[in-house]
Amino acid sequence: MNATSTVTKPEHVAIIMDGNGRWAKSRGLPRVAGHRAGVKTLRKLIEHSVKINLNAITVYAFSRENWQRPKSEVDLLMDLFISALNSEVKDLHKNNVKLTFIGDRSAFSRKLQNSINDSETLTTSNTGLRLNIAANYSGRWDIVQAIQVITKEIESNKIKIEDVDEALVSNKLSLADHNDPDLFIRTGGEQRISNYFLWQSAYTELYFTETLWPDFDAKQLDIAIDWFSQRQRRFGKTSEQIEQTQNS
Ligand code: IPE
Ligand code: IPE
Ligand code: MG
Repeated sequence: MNATSTVTKPEHVAIIMDGNGRWAKSRGLPRVAGHRAGVKTLRKLIEHSVKINLNAITVYAFSRENWQRPKSEVDLLMDLFISALNSEVKDLHKNNVKLTFIGDRSAFSRKLQNSINDSETLTTSNTGLRLNIAANYSGRWDIVQAIQVITKEIESNKIKIEDVDEALVSNKLSLADHNDPDLFIRTGGEQRISNYFLWQSAYTELYFTETLWPDFDAKQLDIAIDWFSQRQRRFGKTSEQIEQTQNS
């Protein structure tokens, strides 16, 4: 993105869908009921994002750290990913949504990897909303895999050390063909990034809400977008400089 850009609507929204477990617990339900409710929320939010013409959303579905949860919860989450993908992909395709997964998918079962690959292939030419799903993703992992790729290219004399700059690193990270997220939303009340986009969120506007993910809705997404539109993105410059470019 242009450093002095004054976009008022975010082109790319990154979301940490947090609070499913607490939502379920407060209702005396098992945690997985919260995850199921969370899938329904995501479905509605995607419909809304299509309606309001958002360019891209990237949702954090499963972090690399989430493997440390009880095996029973991880297993249920994996089943839920497969069933949600199988039931939703046709509708997403009908709505011209292009689906992309980021993260190390090799750790998933063959069945889940197949569902992921099939959904990407089916929707690859779609030109509407870009829906990126971060699964077995973490920001540090992303940076490490980029370093590995760059090191190999240096080793094989494809590039020189002097060629390594910010643009090159950005190019080796997940979503290299994308604008960095403009707006980050985390539901569930925690005010942390939890190893989501680290490099890519250098200038992302951070929005935190107490609302638990299953209770987050279209109206609340609109509120977050309104909040974003009131930010002045300075990228290191002064307010006066930004106002001057806006008025010229
Ligand atoms: C987010 O909700 C979903 C995943 C991490 C898969 P949580 O399961 O973290 O819900 P809380 O934070 O325990 O309420
Ligand atoms: C972040 O939520 C990851 C996802 C929503 C997939 P967590 O619930 O795992 O984050 P922490 O552990 O509270 O930081
Ligand atoms: Mg959580």
